[in-house]
Amino acid sequence: MNTSLPTLPGPIGIFDSGYGGLTILSKIRRALPQYDYLYLGDNARTPYGTRSFEVVYEFTRQAVVKLFEMGCHLVILACNTASAKALRSIQMNDLPRIDPARRVLGVIRPTVECIGSITHTRHVGILATPGTIKSESYPLEIHKLFPDICVKGEACPLWVPLVENNEAQGDGADYFVHKYIHQLLAQDPAIDTVILGCTHFPLLLPKIKQHIPPHINIVAQGELVADSLHDYLQRHPDMDARCTRGGSCLYYTTEAEEKFRESASIFLNEQIDVHRIER
Ligand code: DGL
Repeated sequence: MNTSLPTLPGPIGIFDSGYGGLTILSKIRRALPQYDYLYLGDNARTPYGTRSFEVVYEFTRQAVVKLFEMGCHLVILACNTASAKALRSIQMNDLPRIDPARRVLGVIRPTVECIGSITHTRHVGILATPGTIKSESYPLEIHKLFPDICVKGEACPLWVPLVENNEAQGDGADYFVHKYIHQLLAQDPAIDTVILGCTHFPLLLPKIKQHIPPHINIVAQGELVADSLHDYLQRHPDMDARCTRGGSCLYYTTEAEEKFRESASIFLNEQIDVHRIER
């Protein structure tokens, strides 16, 4: 066990490869404003969605250790790619060595739990990064709970770069938003529910709504993850006691502070305090 980690209660850590996790953080803060939070975006190495299993696992493991060193006892991987490719290995192999009492949670399971009550046709589509689609994590998790649901996935490799480069509302975004939605629905016209299986994608929601047929339910993850965290903290009073309450939120990025501050302020609609950390 790593005995150099801080033992005092600390903030809840929220990790993403870049800005996408901010969509989760803002819903979590709305639902649970009393806690302290520490957000880490690995903007210097984003996107993760096109990287190999080994690389995503290593980058995510490093980020989790960094958040533990900064005082977090509970870390949320607010990134589907990291949840799909690294969560299980971190939970099974790393946590027992680092500190068995700390916890890392992902975003995929909380997202799929509600699907059974949303789809009527029992045909569900997933829009996500190439890494998440390739991992098959969504069909696997959905079929554990709802074996009758037919799941199709479409990789959207260009959506994360559009968001990271502040082009989510730009005219150029329309082409790629339309393209991936069209490709998904062409795989299965009976789809009536589409999961945005990447935390960056809610930042493209205005465009997605323009290009998706109106009868299709769009499932974004923020509120589902926030509800699930609320439930987790209620069921685990020992962990709840290790999360400090002060209502603060600190932001860390592996890229330039200025760049993060500018983009994040647009997504969050507020000025924020950002610090750069070494990868
Ligand atoms: N926001 C992340 C996700 O939910 C990853 C985006 C990326 O880095 O490719 O998958």
